[in-house]
Amino acid sequence: MTARLLEASGVTVRFGGLIAVNAINFHVEKDEIVGLIGPNGAGKTTFFNAISGFRYPDGGAVSFKGVNILGLKPHKISRMGMSRTFQIVKPFPEMSVLDNVMMGAFSVHKAAKDARLAAMQALELVKFSHWAHRRAGDLPVAGRKRLEVAKVLACDPELILLDEVMAGLTPSEHNEMIEAVRNIRTSGVTVVIIEHVMPVIMNLCDRIYVLHHGELICEGAPDKVIRDPEVVRAYLGEDFAL
Ligand SMILES: Nc1ncnc2c1ncn2[C@@H]1O[C@H](COP(=O)(O)OP(=O)(O)O)[C@@H](O)[C@H]1O
Ligand SMILES: [Mg+2]
Repeated sequence: MTARLLEASGVTVRFGGLIAVNAINFHVEKDEIVGLIGPNGAGKTTFFNAISGFRYPDGGAVSFKGVNILGLKPHKISRMGMSRTFQIVKPFPEMSVLDNVMMGAFSVHKAAKDARLAAMQALELVKFSHWAHRRAGDLPVAGRKRLEVAKVLACDPELILLDEVMAGLTPSEHNEMIEAVRNIRTSGVTVVIIEHVMPVIMNLCDRIYVLHHGELICEGAPDKVIRDPEVVRAYLGEDFAL
């Protein structure tokens, strides 16, 4: 049997007395788009940190392509093929969009020529190559989010973890990002996405995990998850309708 692309079991993170992530089992198969949702403070970003090398978990195991990655530094994990975005996006404002994306590409490409090519391909994938030579500091929010996605794509990943890349975007910008994420999957990159915008999640995801107070309260196909009474109570609300 071939190994799952990502497999996390029993992942736990504590901050003092707070259990921010409690014994979470989570897996991703190649070519899936998997959603991770839940109220603010549920532990979503902390879970990303724990599986991508930014925070050593207090318990559990994480493997990527069948290899134990617990304890590896983020750049090592990125070189193995898993890269993530950050919720707070901070590009270098004086540099061009292309140069910012190349900063990501240099983590896996040594030669500037290769980094540049990877950066241009990443910008094309998120339909942003027309901005390549503009100052990153001039980008509106939607553009900064796309830059961030391009930056992780330029690391030649097999799996990307997107943390609220659609927050603050307009509905038409949501549609552009949905298309961009679909293009990313078609290009052979598997996606895990943290997002609050439910139509986006429902539209994109093959499977969804729901966290609440650090606990996994539901996992499954979108239509199952939105009907789950505990998900409605904890997150969606009784009035929820798409
Ligand atoms: N570095 C930290 N130190 C202490 N508490 C933290 C830290 N990071 C997150 N937390 C707490 O852990 C919980 C989960 O936070 P987070 O993972 O950011 O949630 P989400 O991304 O789902 O909104 C929250 O209660 C938050 O206050
Ligand atoms: Mg978060």
